[in-house]
Amino acid sequence: MAGFLDQIEPLKQTALAELRAAPDLAALEQAKGAWTGPHGKFTALMKQLGSLSKEEKPAAGKLINAAKMELEAALVSRREELELKAALPKEPADFTLPGRRRALGKLHPLTQVTDDIVRAFRKIGFAVADGPEIEDEYHCFDALNTPADHPARDSQDTFYLAPGTGTVSPPPAGAAGGRSEISPDHPTHDFAKTLGAFPPLPGGRGEGGLPTFHDQLPVHGRGQGAKPFLLRTHTSSVQIRVMEKQPPPVRIIVPGRVYRRDNADATHNPTFQQIEGLYVDKNVTVGDLKGTVEFVFRELMGSDVKIRFRPHYFSYTEPSYEIDFTNALVKKMGKDWLEIAGCGMVHPQVFETVGYDPAVWTGWAFGFGIERIAMLRYGINDIRLFYENDVRFLKQF
Ligand code: DAH
Repeated sequence: MAGFLDQIEPLKQTALAELRAAPDLAALEQAKGAWTGPHGKFTALMKQLGSLSKEEKPAAGKLINAAKMELEAALVSRREELELKAALPKEPADFTLPGRRRALGKLHPLTQVTDDIVRAFRKIGFAVADGPEIEDEYHCFDALNTPADHPARDSQDTFYLAPGTGTVSPPPAGAAGGRSEISPDHPTHDFAKTLGAFPPLPGGRGEGGLPTFHDQLPVHGRGQGAKPFLLRTHTSSVQIRVMEKQPPPVRIIVPGRVYRRDNADATHNPTFQQIEGLYVDKNVTVGDLKGTVEFVFRELMGSDVKIRFRPHYFSYTEPSYEIDFTNALVKKMGKDWLEIAGCGMVHPQVFETVGYDPAVWTGWAFGFGIERIAMLRYGINDIRLFYENDVRFLKQF
């Protein structure tokens, strides 16, 4: 018995020393196995308890349990030390270094300019309208009084969709109001549905299942025979779509993408952005038009802006003008004036076509290219930069 008890203390001391000296977690686990594991040296000692007499057992058991608890406590505390050590960075951290930031996305410069233009027009009561980019000839040309032989209609200038990707059929005989049914003959390219699905303007009639203003109009030559769809060459088509849907007065702007068959160079791109404006009311004059354009350009480009109107021709306005613009930036480019927009008083024939009485209603319209304004504003000399999506270019704005 005395021999057995005498073994406990030295064995415990050696075990404690080994556990406390374990250099890492793996060594600690190994030491644990060597002492208190199923085949450990301390476990072997405990097994000898069984061979002691009934009188000797309690004292020996007490002693050995106390020693075992001490070993377990040493194991836990060394494990904590080693785990903490493993979790600490190997290299010292420099907490004064700048943090890692995620790059923030931003709006495209053309979107920024468009937003500014829209904001300026909103101040004077214009609402934003929208229309389809895949258009029919009626809205893009016919209803705008553009003759069949006009060069803009040429396939050299306009992207037409392949025949068979949708056709405009004549209105069904005796259909109320004569609204043309646009029926696609190609189920997978149902552009006609897209056109028909354009929502009515807020405040316009057509909502809630009511008949639209346009439903009550005469046919005016729409939908005569099958015609191909096209990519709109200007946002002017939306003038027609809006007037078809709502009675006058109208005060809208239409920002949007347009398409022309141009080869890309520093000043041309096959797709670009326009803003259309349309104002219809009683007694509207060219003076209102000029005042409005001047107001918006001063908001956009500063108070030194000057504009001038030059006589021009557009089939949907009479008289028609081109708007020239100048300010310090234009002078800096070595120019006196920069042509910036087309405009004019809405042609009576256009009013007839949409069912507005030209004896009662007057109006003006304009359309200008957004890239031009953005290029001027930011000093950009190549329109293609807007469409290349090079982040090094885009992140400057
Ligand atoms: N649609 C013309 C273009 O793309 C611009 C334009 C001129 C729009 C006169 C108008 C307008 O509304 O009245 O060049």
